[in-house]
Amino acid sequence: MIIVKSEREIELMRRAGKITAAARALAGEMVKPGVTTREIDKAVFHFIRSQGAEPSFLNYNGYPASVCVSVNDEIIHGIPGPRVLKEGDIVSVDVGAYIGGFHGDCAATYPCGKISEEAQRLIDVTRQGFFEGFAQAREGNRISDISHAVQAYVEANGFSVVREYVGHGVGRNMHEAPEIPNYGAPGHGPKLLRGMTIAVEPMVNAGTAAIRQMSDGWTVKTRDGKYAAHYENTILITAGEPEILTAPAP
Ligand code: MF3
Ligand code: CO
Repeated sequence: MIIVKSEREIELMRRAGKITAAARALAGEMVKPGVTTREIDKAVFHFIRSQGAEPSFLNYNGYPASVCVSVNDEIIHGIPGPRVLKEGDIVSVDVGAYIGGFHGDCAATYPCGKISEEAQRLIDVTRQGFFEGFAQAREGNRISDISHAVQAYVEANGFSVVREYVGHGVGRNMHEAPEIPNYGAPGHGPKLLRGMTIAVEPMVNAGTAAIRQMSDGWTVKTRDGKYAAHYENTILITAGEPEILTAPAP
């Protein structure tokens, strides 16, 4: 069942979303050569706590950190650690914050110093893929209208969408119904209603769509070793243009 939020609940989600977006921005600013992914995690943990919120990811299904930091061929769920970022890396940061009974969830991929033109194009196409889906996320449309718009844009630009992981409803729980794939034919799935809050999150591979699950139980990489990017916001469905709750969005 897809939960429709009341105006009061939406106000609480705006608050969670703002903190989550600020945590993403902080992480993004830290992406520089010489910084470790653990330093980013520590800074995000302290920032979220300083706002009176809790990191949504910490201990979620045993996840050991406050943020996912996924570098280069890592698509999602990279665990922060001693890895030192270096010039030319692309760094996906995914973060959630919980306050007032609600979660925010968002992600973005940031360049570390100077990166290749092709890596920048991957980042840009992934972000725009989100906004193509976003434009379809309005009352009366169906879930797969979002999915189709993301896939069509990404593939028209020569990249691939990951199939095994999807966007999702978000609210009192980080993962609620419905699932929101980044691929599929339009016109399928539940109808969108104003007051639904969802996380739309394209995961885009520069090469093939195939993934590889790492033995740490979390990290997901591209099978072909090529780069991947991720971009996510928590959004509110309205009768018109949706509202980004994890605002400001990069
Ligand atoms: N942001 C991720 C998602 O959208 C959640 C990360 S998984 C966690 O599903 F375990 F790290 F929390
Ligand atoms: Co998510």
